[in-house]
Amino acid sequence: MTDQLCVLHDSEAVSIRAASLVIGRSKIAQDSKGRFTLAVSGGSTPLRLFELLGTSFRKDIDWERVEIFWADERCVPPDHKDSNYKGAHDSLLSRVDIPPENVHRIKGEMPPEEGAGEYGEELLRCFGNSGLPAFDLVILGVGQDGHTASLFPDAASLSEEKRFAIPVYVEKLQSWRITLTLPVLNNAAAILFLVTGRKKAGILREIFENREKNPEYPVSLIQPVHGEAIWLVDREASSQLKGM
Ligand code: 6PG
Repeated sequence: MTDQLCVLHDSEAVSIRAASLVIGRSKIAQDSKGRFTLAVSGGSTPLRLFELLGTSFRKDIDWERVEIFWADERCVPPDHKDSNYKGAHDSLLSRVDIPPENVHRIKGEMPPEEGAGEYGEELLRCFGNSGLPAFDLVILGVGQDGHTASLFPDAASLSEEKRFAIPVYVEKLQSWRITLTLPVLNNAAAILFLVTGRKKAGILREIFENREKNPEYPVSLIQPVHGEAIWLVDREASSQLKGM
């Protein structure tokens, strides 16, 4: 597993570089396998990337051969303001010619256990049943507490080894979510972390000062077995890293 840390001027530069990486990865995957499997996160950080992919860079990707998934979802309907699907739909999916059958949203409107089970079956349908789903690229963010996707600190979800997707009740948010599990995330060919803003400087220092796996910081458990982890961070988020 190799980690690459790129510090860029600001969040716009992070989004532009991320778009370039997504485009590059899509070409590699489509040239070699005929399709590009991408899992995206929610939250605010990736929204500008989605917007760029849906506008300035729209023509740089063969959307017909993109299969899009989510790393996690809030247990809300797809038109709810908190829906990760809605965020990606409004900024990207509504602007590109991706076949509807290639949009594999997590059904947050279902009861959490059922929604997680349905998503797991969708992953089996899309990746076959010869082992873990292997995404070409997974885009992740990092919470100030070190969570990523919907894998939160010291949660039982961190030790799930069999299921591809599970429901998690997030105490501090008083809400249910559905998330991909660590074995699936760590089976990706590439993980792209997008971290911007001064509020993330502390957690980035914690993560990079000690590269040991630490369940207090679930993002530290994301260490692709065969793939690579690329960190795109802006100057504000990297301001507490040594040597920055
Ligand atoms: C979610 C995300 C979550 C997010 C982090 C960072 O569903 O909220 O998957 O893991 O990536 O909380 O969120 P921001 O990008 O908004 O800082």
